[in-house]
Amino acid sequence: MNSNKVLQVIGVSKSYSQGLEEIAVLKEFNLEILEGEKVAIMGASGSGKTTLLNLCGGLDQPTCGVVSVCGVAWSELDPSAQASWRNKHVGFVYQFHHLLAEFSALENVALPALIGKATRVDAKTRALDLLHRVGLENRVNHIPASLSGGERQRVAIARALVTHPSVVLMDEPTGNLDIANTESIMALLTEVNVDMKISFVVVTHDPTVANQMDRIIQLDCSDIGDGEKIV
Ligand SMILES: Nc1ncnc2c1ncn2[C@@H]1O[C@H](COP(=O)(O)OP(=O)(O)OP(=O)(O)O)[C@@H](O)[C@H]1O
Ligand SMILES: [Mg+2]
Repeated sequence: MNSNKVLQVIGVSKSYSQGLEEIAVLKEFNLEILEGEKVAIMGASGSGKTTLLNLCGGLDQPTCGVVSVCGVAWSELDPSAQASWRNKHVGFVYQFHHLLAEFSALENVALPALIGKATRVDAKTRALDLLHRVGLENRVNHIPASLSGGERQRVAIARALVTHPSVVLMDEPTGNLDIANTESIMALLTEVNVDMKISFVVVTHDPTVANQMDRIIQLDCSDIGDGEKIV
């Protein structure tokens, strides 16, 4: 397997059982993300974007097919090995920040590094560095409730980057933000992508966001069976 492929989705189908009904969401879907690539996933509501991100991050299993991150298939790993592989290689950012309410910005960002067995000093240094990078050096001790929406999302991005993952999976990261905040988040992603060579897979409904990626992949309820479709 080629080592510059950070993410491979090969012949993946996903169905959900809903009572007696089987809902086929993805059908023989293929996708490859190379090191340092930025890819947008677009498609109508219900077309399977979140489902795809969950499969990519090993948070859900495909009905058939293989999903690999950095050459290792999620299905080859037991749950504890999956958790450490995920911690090492994958960052997540959601539409709503999912920060821990009781913890400061600094603690929220440092946590994945601590889980990844960084020392307290190292985790704190890395978290402070990233908070500085996202322009929040004066907000490190704020809890999420005392940050603005855009600031919370920047903390969530810093948290996703603190382990220096191979790929960051983002589900509508700017869906909740105004134009100015969206622009500043996109500038940050571009900068981090160049400096840290981290790949990004960004689900978005916003064409302005999608057009800043290297590729746009369109999921359509009618043609997801065709696999990767580049527009
Ligand atoms: N746990 C589940 N059980 C049954 N059906 C599900 C489940 N999760 C998702 N679905 C169905 O799978 C389809 C795809 O859902 P998904 O959340 O991936 O869509 P999406 O493209 O992210 O949509 P949106 O843009 O609204 O977030 C939807 O029709 C949804 O109802
Ligand atoms: Mg979704």
